[in-house]
Amino acid sequence: MRILGIETSCDDTSAAVVDGREVLSSVVSSQDALHAVYGGVVPELAARRHLESIQAAIGLAMKRACADFDSLDAIAVTRGPGLVGSLLIGLSVAQGLGMRTGLPVYGVNHLEGHVLSPLIESELALPFLAMIVSGGHTAVYLVEDVGSYKEAASTRDDSAGEAFDKGAKMLGLGYPGGRLMDETARDGNRAAVVFPRGRVRAERFAFTFSGLKTSLWDYLNKQQEHASLEDICASFQEAIVDVLVSRAGELMTVCGVPRLAVAGGVSANSRLRGAVAEYGAANGCEIVFPPLRYCTDNAAMIAHAAALRMERGLPGDPLHAVSRLPLGPRLQAA
Ligand SMILES: Nc1ncnc2c1ncn2[C@@H]1O[C@H](COP(=O)(O)OP(=O)(O)OP(=O)(O)O)[C@@H](O)[C@H]1O
Ligand SMILES: [Mg+2]
Repeated sequence: MRILGIETSCDDTSAAVVDGREVLSSVVSSQDALHAVYGGVVPELAARRHLESIQAAIGLAMKRACADFDSLDAIAVTRGPGLVGSLLIGLSVAQGLGMRTGLPVYGVNHLEGHVLSPLIESELALPFLAMIVSGGHTAVYLVEDVGSYKEAASTRDDSAGEAFDKGAKMLGLGYPGGRLMDETARDGNRAAVVFPRGRVRAERFAFTFSGLKTSLWDYLNKQQEHASLEDICASFQEAIVDVLVSRAGELMTVCGVPRLAVAGGVSANSRLRGAVAEYGAANGCEIVFPPLRYCTDNAAMIAHAAALRMERGLPGDPLHAVSRLPLGPRLQAA
């Protein structure tokens, strides 16, 4: 099953070609430099830049895969969740190509792309838990099968990626902050500053990161003496990682599922990767991550998710853009 994937849900313009689970090409045109001066994604600018970059990204992905449209079986495109203006560019281009070539166009939930991305290069038996830690989401899903997901936990306020980005902004590290904080924290002391590990009282497994953000602001603005930048970053990062690892661990125990896939932009974090792997080794759990190039937004994970769904005869999503889109119902036991 040869599929051209198109992903424009936020600020990365991406196209890829897959053949079943094999990625033949993956092109990501980042808009980081465009948005860096504003300290965050400006939706209107993102949509305009997608429009400028999308044709070239598709052309390059097709060329690198040595593919022509006659050799494809379908076009897969992200239809949400994301910025509607950005999504509309990908959806319009995909549908235009579909009309021109006669290829079917298959709508994909961006979150399903992330959840299944660890399976691009790794195996994990079903059922497993998938923790998405990205710019817009922080949630844990019980993956019963491809296409069958139950939400076991989600965040009540910020996502882990937002916590990294906002913390990095307060520390003057630049944008996007997650990777910069990861790098700055590398040689820092994780115990130098004690930041809170947030918990929602009424919901045992829910995430909350707003208190952590406030706590960093208070530390920077109300205290006279400060630890080094490296130590603050390492301590702040540790508070996020600690919550993610302990919550995922609790859920694996409660669900009786000792298998975890971690995905989304924050899954590129070196400390999170180390801490989750340590937890897995100590508790006999199998852990998989996507390769670093498939952690942040990319069209390969969209085409890959479409390939797995099509193999099982599952239908594509409707082709209209939506900003919010759940991946599945809440898991009652959680
Ligand atoms: N090494 C890293 N450490 C921590 N965070 C990181 C790292 N690399 C990227 N990130 C964070 O990942 C986030 C971007 O991830 P991703 O591209 O998956 O999110 P998104 O597509 O914007 O959101 P969503 O997938 O929820 O719609 C940003 O918040 C960024 O700071
Ligand atoms: Mg994403």
